[in-house]
Amino acid sequence: MHPRLIDIPVHRDSRGALAVVENILSIERAYFLFDIQAGAARGGHAHKALTQLLLVPSGSYSVIIRDDMGGTDTFTMSDPSKGLLVPPGYWREIFGFSSGGVCFVLASHSYDEDDYIRNFEDYVEWKSSH
Ligand code: TYD
Repeated sequence: MHPRLIDIPVHRDSRGALAVVENILSIERAYFLFDIQAGAARGGHAHKALTQLLLVPSGSYSVIIRDDMGGTDTFTMSDPSKGLLVPPGYWREIFGFSSGGVCFVLASHSYDEDDYIRNFEDYVEWKSSH
């Protein structure tokens, strides 16, 4: 499975909207990026085993997904009813945060630094053996 946008069901009525993430991935951890400085980039790594769902409850940001074959996909996240599902084994960079932009991440596993590959050349080498 490649990284892809998925629909997040929204219950909207006269009071506003409520979005539900259910039965998309098994979740052990959630974290969010906020107060991100204009021009700052986050991410810049791949995960060996972690699946993540990136959400945008507020504002906007962009994500570049890279694979080891030189493939690149860019997603502009600005719709709270869309999530970017990123399976293990893809390089990601998160950038272009709007003022007030929030990247909310649901993750399949607890934080584990050993699951990170933080150098792109190491990522390509790791992919060649997986
Ligand atoms: P970092 O990996 O640099 O964030 P990003 O992927 O957004 O560029 O993480 C920043 C710090 O937060 C680093 O010290 C590790 C820590 N951290 C945790 O302790 N738990 C977590 O779940 C995450 C994602 C990061």
